[in-house]
Amino acid sequence: MSTARFPAVSPKFPHMLHGGDYNPDQWLDMPEIINEDFRLAKLAHINAMSIGIFAWTALEPSDSTYTFEWLDDIMDRLAKQNMVAVLATPSGARPAWMSQKYPEVLRVGGNRVRNLHGVRHNHCYTSPVYRRKVSEINTRLAERYKNHPALALWHLSNEYGGECHCDLCQDAFRAWLKERYHNDLAALNKAWCTAFWSHTYTDWSQVESPAPHGENKVHAHNLDWKRFVTHQTTDFIRMEIASVKKITPDVPVTTNLMGFYTGLDYWKIAPHLDVVSWDSYPPWHDAHQSDQTIAEYFGFVHDLNRSLKQGKPFLLMESAPSPTNWQRMAKLRRPGMHYLASLQAVAHGSDSVQYFQYRKSRGSYEKFHGAVVDHVGHENTRVFQDVTDVGSALTKLDDVIGTTTPAKTAIIYDWENRWAIDDFAGYVSQNERRYAETCVDHYRPFWRMGIPADIIDQNEDFSKYSLIIAPMLYMVKPGVAERINAFVENGGTFVATYLSGIVDESDLCFLNGWPGPLRKTLGIWVEETDALDATESNTIAVRDGELGLNGDYKAHVVCDLMHAEQARVLGTYTKEFYAKRPAYTVNTVGKGRAYYHGARMEMRFLEDFYRGLAKRLSLTPSLDTELPAGVTARHRTDGKRDYVFVMNFTGNQKRVALKDTYRDMVANSSVHGTLTLPPYGCSILTKA
Ligand code: GLA
Ligand code: ZN
Repeated sequence: MSTARFPAVSPKFPHMLHGGDYNPDQWLDMPEIINEDFRLAKLAHINAMSIGIFAWTALEPSDSTYTFEWLDDIMDRLAKQNMVAVLATPSGARPAWMSQKYPEVLRVGGNRVRNLHGVRHNHCYTSPVYRRKVSEINTRLAERYKNHPALALWHLSNEYGGECHCDLCQDAFRAWLKERYHNDLAALNKAWCTAFWSHTYTDWSQVESPAPHGENKVHAHNLDWKRFVTHQTTDFIRMEIASVKKITPDVPVTTNLMGFYTGLDYWKIAPHLDVVSWDSYPPWHDAHQSDQTIAEYFGFVHDLNRSLKQGKPFLLMESAPSPTNWQRMAKLRRPGMHYLASLQAVAHGSDSVQYFQYRKSRGSYEKFHGAVVDHVGHENTRVFQDVTDVGSALTKLDDVIGTTTPAKTAIIYDWENRWAIDDFAGYVSQNERRYAETCVDHYRPFWRMGIPADIIDQNEDFSKYSLIIAPMLYMVKPGVAERINAFVENGGTFVATYLSGIVDESDLCFLNGWPGPLRKTLGIWVEETDALDATESNTIAVRDGELGLNGDYKAHVVCDLMHAEQARVLGTYTKEFYAKRPAYTVNTVGKGRAYYHGARMEMRFLEDFYRGLAKRLSLTPSLDTELPAGVTARHRTDGKRDYVFVMNFTGNQKRVALKDTYRDMVANSSVHGTLTLPPYGCSILTKA
């Protein structure tokens, strides 16, 4: 397959970015510290600093008085040391004087109580005053540094999130609804099913946001509110983008996303960014799960970020070089783990390894959060050496910049579907639904086989894939079922599960039998669904010669009682009053097939099932070998040359058989026959 290389994030700096959040504004009274920071950065091969993220008061100490001199100095030092600035707009936290002078910038909670000044990420995204103040400071930053050689990338705000329920936001919500429902209140009433409990609105002014002490059980209302929050936040982001782009049209913009964060639909935000970036904090060495389990989960999220812009490399904007202070246990990284975790992000498509934070702050909430430079202040620490090793490796990966990973498999992860699943009442407790985790479970077998996968939403183009997996596709949006059917007719393989095809975009149930519009493609009718407690299970007797599945597998949580209409039955329940009824089916449609898992199957089933499918569909792994447990391989390519990352997420040495001769890009040595990976080892190979 030929794949073009994407341009480097900053064409003037075609190197892997290595650095992180740096807050010299916390040290302005100790200039010797700042001198040290630049000396140490050089030692650790650091070339990119994210600056100004929470520096608003240092930049504008009182209304319209600006103090950019300290930032000028930092920008100049960066340029002098051939480093780049990932320059932030400061809107993630605001000065106290602003909250005092303009109380409308303070966010109002769902309980309609206005926040006091404090913490961060807590402003009203609608407030005209807040928008004006943000636009003004952004404009000044852009004006001042537009020609500065250090400026490489705009870091918009920080981790946009949350919602405001003030009067301004209520008005904006109603205006958004009027547009969505074409000024037709009856259409809103129908979509929200407001006849239920006599909640019909007779005037637009009666509509307001969900509230803990008010309306909160109308699912479509909750759904539209979440859509509005994404819309309003995106509108705010676009305002920030416009304020810097009008002066620096060629400087790319990003904002740091938060993985599975449920408050915003990132599929709607990504198109407005030049490059996607995200903040990754895996809880390595957790006592309750293996590092492999964690690596699979974070591998999925890295792939989601690569997929948000259809394969374009993303940036790892934050990661902890040592313990993360807000996690349950702030565990130390075992030797090798920092290197492995950093290169894992690169393997999945990151063109950077950035940290939170460069220098540990002296006081306040994050004084014990991991950092490149600890309070001790020198380079003779284990963590500093780990960071230096990563920096040194990244200097050898210029050729990997802009390469990507083409995948023939896609897993649908859809934020709106998640909102709807998390909200409904019925079937199984909210804790057991685990939509995101279920998507990850369907991904784990691919990670173990070293077969790349994309993560897409239901509106994505399906045509480039040969396998599409849609776990728990509860909400099916208009046109999606037709597109899935066409995909299968044309030879594609589709996999669906229990709790699929149940509601439309407005959370209104489909009326002609589940899985609603997917019924024809899947060739089944789900009549009822049983709920199983954590202590209960059923067993499914599977006989699927084609995929090589023959035996009993456990089923948990939900069991569909279904009828095979056109589908062939490949597995049946063995227990309960529905013993012998279908639990696992396949339907042939045109040149393709549609599989249905009627119950939440144990991991062993998913592994056997996807191994069978991968073989049948000839899905190519990143490295042609049998990978040992806990080891995965992932490649990036420009279409001509592959860069293969082989990663060992166990504390034991592992051996991987190689069929070709490779060059280890970091060690610059030849590897042939067997690759030996130390505990938590990672090698980057390219054909010799
Ligand atoms: C987030 C924030 C950072 C910092 C880190 C700590 O990702 O963006 O400012 O608070 O968490 O892990
Ligand atoms: Zn508001």
